[in-house]
Amino acid sequence: MNERSSYYLTTPIYYVNDIPHIGHAYTTIAADAMCRYKRMRGYDVFFLTGTDEHGQKIQQSAAAKGLTPRELADRTVVNFQELWKALDISNDDFIRTTEERHHRTVQAIFKKLMDQGDIYKGKYEGWYCVPCETYVPESAMGEDRTCPDCKRPLQMMEEESYFFKASKYTGMLLDYYRKNLKGVMPKSRYNEIVSFLEGGVRDQSISRTTLKWGIPVPGDDAHVVYVWFDALINYVTACGYLDDRVKFEKFWPEARHLVGKDIIRFHCVIWPIMLLALGVAPPVSVFAHGWWTVEGEKMSKSRGNVVDPFDMAARYGTDPFRYFLLREVPFGLDGDFSEAALVGRINSDLANDLGNLLNRTLQMVDNFFGGTLPPVEKAGPLEEEIARLADETLAEVDARMEDFAFDEALKAIWAFVSRGNKYIDETMPWTLAREEKGAELGVVLNTLYDVLRLSAMLLAPFMPGTAARMWDQLGLSGAPADMRYEDVKWGGREPGVKVRKGKVLFPRIDLAEWRKAREAESKAPAPAKEQPAIEHEPTVGIDAFRAIELRVAQIVEVGEIKKSKKLYRLTVDLGYERRTIVSGIKEFFTPEELLNKRIIVVVNLQPATLCGVESNGMLLAAGDGTHTALSLLTPDRDIPLGSRVS
Ligand code: ME8
Ligand code: MG
Repeated sequence: MNERSSYYLTTPIYYVNDIPHIGHAYTTIAADAMCRYKRMRGYDVFFLTGTDEHGQKIQQSAAAKGLTPRELADRTVVNFQELWKALDISNDDFIRTTEERHHRTVQAIFKKLMDQGDIYKGKYEGWYCVPCETYVPESAMGEDRTCPDCKRPLQMMEEESYFFKASKYTGMLLDYYRKNLKGVMPKSRYNEIVSFLEGGVRDQSISRTTLKWGIPVPGDDAHVVYVWFDALINYVTACGYLDDRVKFEKFWPEARHLVGKDIIRFHCVIWPIMLLALGVAPPVSVFAHGWWTVEGEKMSKSRGNVVDPFDMAARYGTDPFRYFLLREVPFGLDGDFSEAALVGRINSDLANDLGNLLNRTLQMVDNFFGGTLPPVEKAGPLEEEIARLADETLAEVDARMEDFAFDEALKAIWAFVSRGNKYIDETMPWTLAREEKGAELGVVLNTLYDVLRLSAMLLAPFMPGTAARMWDQLGLSGAPADMRYEDVKWGGREPGVKVRKGKVLFPRIDLAEWRKAREAESKAPAPAKEQPAIEHEPTVGIDAFRAIELRVAQIVEVGEIKKSKKLYRLTVDLGYERRTIVSGIKEFFTPEELLNKRIIVVVNLQPATLCGVESNGMLLAAGDGTHTALSLLTPDRDIPLGSRVS
């Protein structure tokens, strides 16, 4: 047998400063559907996703939460990993840019480009957008020096920087795109990129001295590698560029990237130029999809309209959510997300069309043949027409998937499902049964059975759970995900198979009740979105305040307390004495972070015993009450231990 063809697809690696939203879910679900489809077409697939964990954005949001960047990354990466489980994502690898394999690859690539003269040291001066981690040229700036993408104010920055000679390779990349018309997809994006390249590309600043959180430039620790230069390299790190040449040679020539339209310059200009400089072929194609708005508005934290994919999957089911995202909007264009539209599709496409076809068919096999599919007699012209439609549908899905047109592929599958429902109306099996036309009835049910069997196979990449349930109810063994197209031919059903009618696939959502529930929810106070006004404690006189004795102390020892996840046993030095304090700050600080810290202690608090240890005092800390951030109060300059705070 021939060696299987390979297929390599990536999602962007997502920033860990944020929680995942439907935008992230969208790209990853689309990539998952494609990879599942390719596996079923016999390809050897490598599907990569991951997280982007370095850079200023991460450093700043960690600082704001009182965490180290590493701690922030470790906490938030879990949100992505859990989400991918909840959404049935079948990725083969998950890369974090803080991993050692990536660190080495970035440094090796930097060094190679440096050694061959494609990286040089210079000075960078310009307007910089911190949230987007990018310098913005004057020509692209918004009004009042704001970022054209995120609209936030830009900062003037000047720094020594390493530069990558991107300009040198611009012509080469243009040639590449002129020969590879699908190097960027869809076509409109291809045209956009080509005309951008025709305008020329400047050398790129690829290091920073203004932050610490990144991969050091080899041989020059004052610089860290710019986060985008670092991030893009993830695609070759995970593919074995440095460590596994066999894997690299196998998958890299079939590499494709799926990204949102917001990051195509990085993926279609900078990245392929980096690859050309390395002597590696650019990816086969980069597909840029559109953006979701929510109920007609841009999705943003400040608007409080960020849609939580966990919530959507929990409420409506993973598969309906996956189906909606891929069916609702032509892939490549912008779209609008609304729960009402999602509910509409559940009721019409899923419950009415697909669910009903399965239900009606199995019900009839049960009623008329005691649950066992009868043997087929000869099929008529109507059945031949449906058999032809089955072939056409397979071919149509193939062609549409080649262009990442998920919505079109789904439309074709639904046309097939609808043909099945129409066929029931045409053949009127209930009448056939009444008239005791058993042979004709057998033909009808076998035809319907095959429509369902093929539909389950075709749906498996999009709705893996649903396809598996259909498979099971159809009494088939194995799982549709393990099937190859070749295995599931029209008419190839096993005779005498016993169906297992189960729970309804998609219960209809009662619209009136759904609206009522929604209204009740929107009337209920939304605690997370609006900060409640702060309620102050009753006023106290100055004497009451003075009665609390606060002094400067230093942490000289940090000990664990057995069985406690929250408490540390701290020894603090007040200058005139040492004492033990038990403090519930373990979740927020490592012992190293606390040791030698100067803090403020309440020294005349009544002793209390916590987890068997007596605590003599309390340290002061500020928190936002969310259990994610805590900051210790410390004196802002040198002052003797034991000094009184007033
Ligand atoms: O840009 N609609 O990460 P990121 C559709 N770390 N898709 C959306 C979306 C929306 N409203 N919002 C975001 C980064 N996305 C970099 C990438 S890759 C080497 C480094 C999706 O966390 C879309 O895929 O900001 C977009 O490209 C991605 O999330 C950006 O994720
Ligand atoms: Mg972003």
